Amino acid sequence: MAGNTAAPGQAQWSSKAAFVLAATGSAVGLGNLWRFPTEVGSNGGGAFVLLYILCVVLIALPLLLAESLIGRHGQRSTIGSAVHLARQSGASPAWSLLAVVGLIANTAILTFYCVVAGWVIYFIGTSAADLIGAIGAGEPLRGAFAPQSVEQIQQMMPTLFANPFLLVGLQFAFLVVTVWIVARGVKGGIEMAATWLMPAFFFLLIGITIYAAITGDFAAAVTYLFTPDFERALQPGVLSSALGQAFFSLSLGGGAMIAYGAYASRETNLGQTSGMIAFADTGVAIIAGLAIFPIVFSVGMAPDAGPTLMFQSLPTAFHSMPGGAIVGFLFFVLALFAALTSSVSLLEISVSWVTEKFGVSRGKAAWGIGVPVFLIGLLSALSFNILADQRPIPFIPGFENATWFDAIDGVTGKLLLPLSGLITAVFIGWVADRKLVNAETGLTGGGLAAWRFLIGWLCPLAVFAILVIGLFPQLLG
Ligand code: PHE
Repeated sequence: MAGNTAAPGQAQWSSKAAFVLAATGSAVGLGNLWRFPTEVGSNGGGAFVLLYILCVVLIALPLLLAESLIGRHGQRSTIGSAVHLARQSGASPAWSLLAVVGLIANTAILTFYCVVAGWVIYFIGTSAADLIGAIGAGEPLRGAFAPQSVEQIQQMMPTLFANPFLLVGLQFAFLVVTVWIVARGVKGGIEMAATWLMPAFFFLLIGITIYAAITGDFAAAVTYLFTPDFERALQPGVLSSALGQAFFSLSLGGGAMIAYGAYASRETNLGQTSGMIAFADTGVAIIAGLAIFPIVFSVGMAPDAGPTLMFQSLPTAFHSMPGGAIVGFLFFVLALFAALTSSVSLLEISVSWVTEKFGVSRGKAAWGIGVPVFLIGLLSALSFNILADQRPIPFIPGFENATWFDAIDGVTGKLLLPLSGLITAVFIGWVADRKLVNAETGLTGGGLAAWRFLIGWLCPLAVFAILVIGLFPQLLG
């Protein structure tokens, strides 16, 4: 079993490709399938997409390299690696604050991630039952949920939300699987899913997108996604949402990419791998958008339907699709694996720190952390029914109407992850030993100069500005 301790030189991925696949597995998940379309819809379409892509290229990509090099250099937990690099650079170990903020944020993300993944499990169950019915009726190639109308399919989410026991049970089930994989160790659990299931998922998603393009309102979707309304782009909430989504989707913000970087080999060119990971992740998000929005427009759903958007549009597409009963079932199964390769990285951050710091086994650490993650996650699960009227942080601008779910999602994504990224950029750009950092990047010449500029100047200034504008929108007048 690999990764039982976080001692230097331990537990490495079995190949260079495996590191890229695992990091991509962390990045690609519900962030792309569920959160990206939700955010696009809530922030006016094209304006958001444009800002999102700018944030990925100019801010997230340089930070992805910074985080993975901290991890690869340190070969320890996220906090341990940050302390190590700070010490070697003659700087204060307090710079590991970047990883402390990251650990808190990522563990908090896991609490609601399990809730949304539970919805995916719900659709696996319902589509499995439907598929069995189709086979029993001798029509295995019919569309999904054929006996139901489109209106009834749209009602599936509200029906699920009305059942708190089921919601919590599904949340619990997903968390147990995540904990079990992390307890077994990095290689045992993560590599297999990342190596085989993620590529399978990618091809299925492309197939679904082509179908949506042919049968849905593809022209409306393309216009919506790629025609920026510049006035909308200037609204402060849109920019901080785009930045938050870039951090969330690329698993940035003092956590997963440091943790996985620690398992990358010396020969891995981190500059190159960062580019590959960012490209793949952004590609999947855009493709998911192109699968979902044609359906949204063709059935007349509201693009700003919120977190249920994906779960109402895709089943509608599977409904009309020949073979949709099979495709829908497969899609949700693979989406679950995509979610698992992400949730595992979320939990790995705190588990590797606890094992390193307190010398307990991975298993004990993983199960021990799982308990509070589940309990706090209840707040998010119940935000859709029992706690729907609670507004925990109305005093923070932009969160006046936020439920517990919205609040934990928003505070982590829009505030904590960028805050950790800001500290990381200052640390790597200004404080950490230049020679050592440059050598870790694998970059040379113009590429290195461009990265130094982005990480030292653009990232810290832009992230700082976006954080301040997000918190004090009145500054813009
Ligand atoms: N990037 C993951 C996704 O898109 C979520 C995640 C966020 C994972 C932060 C790790 C750290 O689903």
